[in-house]
Amino acid sequence: MRDIGIFGLGIMGSSLALNMAHKGIKVSVYDWISQETKNFVENKLSKEDIIVYYDIKSFIESLKKPRIVYLLIKSGKPVDNMIEKLLPYLEEGDLIIDGGNEHYLETSRRMQKLKKKKVFYLGVGISGGESGALNGPSFMPGGDREGYERVEEILLKVAAQTDLGPCCTYIGKDSAGHFVKMVHNGIEYGMMQAIAETYDILRKILHLSPEQIGQIFKKWNEEELSSFLMEISSEIMKYRDEETKEYLVDLILDKAEQKGTGKWTVQAALDLGIPTPSLNAAVEARILSYFKEERKELSKKFSKEKPLYNKNKKQFIKDLKNALLFTNLMIFSQGLWLIAEASKEYNYDIDLLEVLRIWRGGCIIRAKIIDFIREILKKDKANVNLLKNEKVITFITEKIPSVQEVVNIGRNFCVPTLVHNTALDYFYSMISEKLPANLIQSQRDFFGAHTYSRVDKEGVFHSYWK
Ligand code: 6PG
Repeated sequence: MRDIGIFGLGIMGSSLALNMAHKGIKVSVYDWISQETKNFVENKLSKEDIIVYYDIKSFIESLKKPRIVYLLIKSGKPVDNMIEKLLPYLEEGDLIIDGGNEHYLETSRRMQKLKKKKVFYLGVGISGGESGALNGPSFMPGGDREGYERVEEILLKVAAQTDLGPCCTYIGKDSAGHFVKMVHNGIEYGMMQAIAETYDILRKILHLSPEQIGQIFKKWNEEELSSFLMEISSEIMKYRDEETKEYLVDLILDKAEQKGTGKWTVQAALDLGIPTPSLNAAVEARILSYFKEERKELSKKFSKEKPLYNKNKKQFIKDLKNALLFTNLMIFSQGLWLIAEASKEYNYDIDLLEVLRIWRGGCIIRAKIIDFIREILKKDKANVNLLKNEKVITFITEKIPSVQEVVNIGRNFCVPTLVHNTALDYFYSMISEKLPANLIQSQRDFFGAHTYSRVDKEGVFHSYWK
């Protein structure tokens, strides 16, 4: 009998099946007979202990009881359809795992539905792309703990391994796993955009070639800024198109796509009332990039002043590095705060230290800064946005002049730096005892009699302003 059944032989499903087989796990796979399935079976499966099924009944019957079925298919309707198809063959105590990037509310809904049928359902975030799935991803499983325990051994074996253990931990109840994976992606969007803004400045203001930028990124990747995204960005910078021999990055259309997880993160933050301006800015930057034709037309109409950068370039590159460190910290601050609030609101009971531990390997946002953040949280678990810590204050204070320089230069040269700017404004807002919200309250009361509170006495007030 087989240990686990995987449905969906796309990139993630096939890579994960191979990873499991390499770790001695007996895998059954099922997919529709498509060219994709045929290619995978013919090219990759012949030497592996993986059995392929083309009908649900024999696929399910091949599995050890209680059964584990791992779905790696497109999120949304296809998951509902597949659950409907599976249910007639499943028994009490069987487990379905949704390994896609699903919206957490959808996962919650399905969990409730399957609970009535006494079938366990887990929403498992998985990060690391194709290579992660094949060699060791980071898993973010959420749902019923009993259901998780059924599959724990398998997930721990195939996850990325670090000096602090496998990158898999029980995240929490209900849709906690998919919520945390969603915020992982919100952070991913932020980190990617922050690197992209740095690249833009190096390219447009310092006029460096991609190769030169790649060397800077490579060096940074050996220091505090070390991260998976920094590493791949340095590789991208030196890559030349085979046909034209140009830097490929220069030939790629500047229109960023998105599948929605960044947007969901920001929507959840708005619903929960947690500030995530830098995550929002990263989504906005992608949306802005999409209007290529409009941008092209408008760029001809507005002549931008292009002053010459005549200050110390070496120092400015150091500033860019500091600004990126600062921005990354603010991105994590916002993301972790959001997870902490969701944990309270939805009773997920999430341990942020554990989340950070499993983000140290396998996943797209793995970065050296995570160790620094873990140290801060270890000192005070309630300091979820990290800002109330002496070390953080020193870290930030040292970097503020650099961040100011970077965003000011960006402004002077008309190079947008949405994520860097919002990181700085988020920080300035958080350290401002007084914000101009007193005027907002006055305006609301003026036009709508919405009332206001006062700083000098208790109560609710309204004024006849005219
Ligand atoms: C990961 C990635 C992965 C997905 C990206 C792409 O953690 O491995 O996040 O899940 O490839 O989310 O998302 P966009 O298409 O929205 O950029």
